[in-house]
Amino acid sequence: MVVTGGCGKLGRAVVADLVAHDWKVVVFDRTAPDRADVTYVPVDLTDYAAVLDAMLGVEERYDAVDAVVHLAAVPAPGLRGDAATFANNMNATYHVFTAARRAGVTNIVWASSETVLGLPFDTPPPYVPVDEDYPPRPESTYSLVKTLEETMAAQLCRWDPALKMYGLRFSNVMEPQDYQAFPSYDADARARKWNLWGYIDARDGAQAVRRALDHPGTGTEVFIIANADTVMSRPSAELVAEVFPDVEVRGNLGEHDTLLSIEKARRVLGYEPEHSWRAV
Ligand SMILES: NC(=O)c1ccc[n+]([C@@H]2O[C@H](COP(=O)([O-])OP(=O)(O)OC[C@H]3O[C@@H](n4cnc5c(N)ncnc54)[C@H](O)[C@@H]3O)[C@@H](O)[C@H]2O)c1
Repeated sequence: MVVTGGCGKLGRAVVADLVAHDWKVVVFDRTAPDRADVTYVPVDLTDYAAVLDAMLGVEERYDAVDAVVHLAAVPAPGLRGDAATFANNMNATYHVFTAARRAGVTNIVWASSETVLGLPFDTPPPYVPVDEDYPPRPESTYSLVKTLEETMAAQLCRWDPALKMYGLRFSNVMEPQDYQAFPSYDADARARKWNLWGYIDARDGAQAVRRALDHPGTGTEVFIIANADTVMSRPSAELVAEVFPDVEVRGNLGEHDTLLSIEKARRVLGYEPEHSWRAV
């Protein structure tokens, strides 16, 4: 199986988890992984010929690909110019999806983003916890591309009913060393309102990728992937009341419950986060 962006923050955790679960992993990235138990193919994903060639095999390394996890992207707004972000992310995704289809791959999981839910919520969310039930509200070029990717996946699956394309709308990716900063977030409720105080531990993100790969469905689905709690020590209901006083709160909100609903991922994929920052 191929993991694009396997050398990135999320990709490293995904590769480690897949290798631990006996997947044979081929990494497509511009930089080399720091582990010897995967096959590495240096590929610039904006070069379609290179993507297709690598998807069809590399002599003496592998001759077929059975699944693709597409993570490579400029991972946030503002890291590059808007047109450069669009060109890299949109072309890379079209190339990976198309090359996978040409190579006969029907199991595709890719990184969408929480941003499609309306981050940074200068316009308040329609209700909380936010879920997959309202249309995307991209507010940046980066998020616009993620929205277009979700649309592209729906159309590709319409063309080919055998195809499975699951988009994982990851929250802000964290590694354990990032948790040292979390207690400082409490001082200002507005400082992290931009993603409703959410986060995803990279290891739990990897779990979601694996469960999405293993799921036997066809067609396209999107899933919000976050941890079960927020980055804050203050109760979730109190944060909503202070920052979004007019927003409807749906269901029973536990003390630190995420405001990025993971109910669909739990129900459909069997996803259950295991790495809360509170346990560190
Ligand atoms: N980091 C977050 O908080 C976050 C949140 C939501 C979604 N996501 C999404 O998750 C995915 C992974 O994010 P990350 O934080 O691991 O990013 P990262 O920047 O750490 O890793 C991205 C990897 O993709 C590679 N890459 C990018 N463009 C490439 C190209 N044209 N050709 C070859 N390789 C290329 C980079 O070399 C890098 O190794 C991205 O799709 C991102 O949009 C990230």
